[in-house]
Formats: sequence, C-alpha cells, structure tokens
Amino acid sequence: MSPAGSTPDDLELRVVTDKGELLEIMLAAWGSHSMMIGLHVYDVAEINALGLYEPGGRTAALASWTLRGDTAYLCALHSLRPGEGVAIRMLDAVVAAARAAGATRLKAMTTNDNMPGLVFYQRRGFRLSGLYLEAIDAYRSVVPTIIKTGYKDIPIHDAIELEIAL
Ligand SMILES: CC(C)(COP(=O)(O)OP(=O)(O)OC[C@H]1O[C@@H](n2cnc3c(N)ncnc32)[C@H](O)[C@@H]1OP(=O)(O)O)[C@@H](O)C(=O)NCCC(=O)NCCS
Repeated sequence: MSPAGSTPDDLELRVVTDKGELLEIMLAAWGSHSMMIGLHVYDVAEINALGLYEPGGRTAALASWTLRGDTAYLCALHSLRPGEGVAIRMLDAVVAAARAAGATRLKAMTTNDNMPGLVFYQRRGFRLSGLYLEAIDAYRSVVPTIIKTGYKDIPIHDAIELEIAL
C-alpha cells in the first residue's frame, strides 16, 4: 500500500492526452521517447498512452501501446510505485485496450539488463519471442542519447522480445 493508503484498485485509469510526463520519464529512463520493437521504431509521443492515477491526481503508472495488423506493441510501461501491483494493473488495462482494438497478441521489448522487466513479463504469462543481438548498440549509433548501462550497471547491448496471445 502507498503512503497515501491507496491500493491499485483505487487508481483511476485514464487515456493520456498530455504525454509530457511520459516523455520525460522515457528520456530519463531510456534516453529517448522512441522505442524499437522488432524492426520498427515507435515514437511514444505519437501512439496511444494510458495512465493510472491516485485519487489526489498523482501518477502511479504509465503505458504506451499501438496496433500494427493484428499485433499490439507495448512500447513503454513505467511504474512510479514499484512493488505494489500497479504495473500489473497497468498491463491488464493495455491488454483490455489491445483486445478491444482487435489485437490477437501483444509484444513487448526489454533490454538484456532488465531482469525486473523479464521477471515481470514472464510472471504475467509472456514468452520469449526474439533475441536481437546488439540491436540497442545499432540503435544507439542512430540515437546516441540511449542509455549505456541499466539494471545493476549492466551494459545494454541487446533487445529481448516477449509476447503473449490475447
Ligand atoms: C518492471 C516494472 C514495470 C514493474 O513495476 P512494479 O510496479 O514494481 O510491478 P508490480 O508491483 O505491478 O508487479 C510486481 C511483479 O513484477 C515482478 N517484479 C517487479 N520488479 C521486480 C524485481 N525487481 N525483481 C523481481 N521481480 C520483480 C514480480 O514478479 C511481481 O510479480 P508477482 O507479484 O506476480 O510475483 C518496473 O520495475 C518499472 O517501471 N521498470 C522500469 C521500466 C521498465 O523496465 N519497464 C518494462 C520494460 S518496457
């Protein structure tokens, strides 16, 4: 439970229209607001975003997703209240929105360092679907601001793709 005493069920789900906060978080955590999944680059400024908000208005989680054919792509998922279940609720909301839009599967991407992300997605039923060796190094040569190290200062080189049937 948060210091404010609210649980994930108290949070209000909203479509995010002002993406300023999400873009700031992406820049701080990743070094860009574009995300590469598979061979495509998605700009979080231009695609769907959902947010979970505390009763007082503070943000608890943000997610960004888009649809391409029958596949939905989760391009960002950020929890501002780690370990309280808000990312699980945020992911559930993306799954519901993607299903409603006609998607039959949802893909996500993590980097090689991101052990919390890999645990999170696999605990939620995602399976590994691709390993793109040195994809982040290649992407960084185009977008030099992409962070160089991540979880526990592990150097970031590779992209790991995961997916789940909807
Ligand atoms: C990954 C992330 C979204 C999890 O957010 P969270 O709010 O802490 O997650 P929740 O509390 O909703 O869920 C916790 C679940 O995630 C897993 N988890 C989250 N952080 C973990 C960690 N550091 N170590 C192990 N497991 C972790 C747990 O398995 C738990 O699932 P369980 O209760 O079924 O065991 C969060 O760490 C984050 O925002 N990371 C930075 C952005 C990112 O990497 N996003 C994912 C790739 S785009």
